[in-house]
Amino acid sequence: MKFFIDTANLDQIREAQDLGILDGVTTNPSLMAKEGISGTQAIMQHYKTICEIADGDISAEVLSTTYEEMIKEGDELAAIHPNIVVKIPMIKDGIKALKYFSDKGIKTNCTLIFSAGQALLAAKAGANYVSPFLGRLDDISVDGMNLIEEIRMIYDNYYFSTEILAASIRSPMHIINCAKVGADVITSPLSSILSLLRHPLTDSGLAQFVADAKKLS
Ligand code: G3P
Repeated sequence: MKFFIDTANLDQIREAQDLGILDGVTTNPSLMAKEGISGTQAIMQHYKTICEIADGDISAEVLSTTYEEMIKEGDELAAIHPNIVVKIPMIKDGIKALKYFSDKGIKTNCTLIFSAGQALLAAKAGANYVSPFLGRLDDISVDGMNLIEEIRMIYDNYYFSTEILAASIRSPMHIINCAKVGADVITSPLSSILSLLRHPLTDSGLAQFVADAKKLS
């Protein structure tokens, strides 16, 4: 299972990279805006910096929504660094853009996936990743994990190589449940990844070991 970090914050990307378990980064326009990045040059430079900090696939989302604009923008994003994955929204023109990039050998991530049908279409169009948004489904009382399980079944039935990139992760339990049902990748805030570390018995056990270690010297 791959671990991506879902942020445009450079300090958090550095911290996750330093942990040694990071396989990639995902961003979106909201995450870029949160970091105060604006203007084409600043956005391009920010992606370049992320690629220099982190190894693995770096998703960079197009800001436009028409086929012609998305392929122009995606080509420019892909030229920044070989690790850039062009992130395309799940809309009709997006399907065409996924096919265009797939035919060109440029990696893609189809975002804003909320149904199995959308995931099927994205896979047919050659997307390398699909991003089902777990937390946002949970927010409207729809079980996001069911969607991951449905997509897993469909992709396995037909040996689609598209990877399921579980997104909108809000808790460590989301990560564990994604691992149980076979999501290929999770993209998560750093806080949820670090929460996987914690257990009170680990803390109390270590405190005891440290105390006893002093008796040994
Ligand atoms: O990767 C998608 C993610 O950034 C959306 O997360 O928490 O805004 O639903 P959230």
